[in-house]
Amino acid sequence: MEKNALRQCRWHGYATIAGLEQAAAHEILRQAQEAVHHRGVFRLVLAGGVTPRGIYGLLRQAQADWGAWHIYFGDERCLPSEHPERNSRMAAETWLNHVAIPRHQIHVIPAERGAEPAAAAYAQTLSAVGEFDLVLLGLGDDGHTAGLFPDHTWGEKSGAPVAMAVHNAPKPPPDRVSLSAARLSASRAVIFLVSGEAKRQAVADWRSGRRIPASVITPVAGVDIFLGSALLS
Ligand code: 6PG
Repeated sequence: MEKNALRQCRWHGYATIAGLEQAAAHEILRQAQEAVHHRGVFRLVLAGGVTPRGIYGLLRQAQADWGAWHIYFGDERCLPSEHPERNSRMAAETWLNHVAIPRHQIHVIPAERGAEPAAAAYAQTLSAVGEFDLVLLGLGDDGHTAGLFPDHTWGEKSGAPVAMAVHNAPKPPPDRVSLSAARLSASRAVIFLVSGEAKRQAVADWRSGRRIPASVITPVAGVDIFLGSALLS
């Protein structure tokens, strides 16, 4: 991984998960306030998985100019829209159903249609959207992020498709839709949310400069990784 990309990883360690969640929620709200003040809108991409749940729960309690928020998803599992394992359902139940973000400003990936049609539909949705303001991402035990898995294509080159159909994903379900690394990198800010001993090797690989899916998310301003401080030792 070239030097400057390594340099642009800012690691923020927290002794407790509660501390990580509070810091992340605070930073999301701070960036939202700044975006709305300067541009009248806040375009946020949500991470799936389990780690963001506590942060979304804190956002549920927050005061914000929700009418200016537009919500997107970094990836979605090809399951029925109300399936308990859907990333969109987790975000809705923990947060989005409880705040006044206009429903038409919550842009769910229609992954229930199948990977290819959903990727095409979401690329159409994003064709009218420029740079995101903030992208939230998780980190898998194998270094994956969003639906970008080792031994799969990551779409990191400019000109890569905006949204990609994913098959044979090692983390079930096998069929997903993921924004490409290039599209996830087209953001003013990117925050990774990482906790749990299972992520130790992926963090060590990343910090040693090994090329993993997370490491090819390279926004101009670099990335911030909010993680359990135990993973830094
Ligand atoms: C998903 C996510 C995936 C997730 C990581 C970390 O659909 O599962 O998009 O990329 O962020 O696997 O998941 P945890 O936060 O549950 O460890």
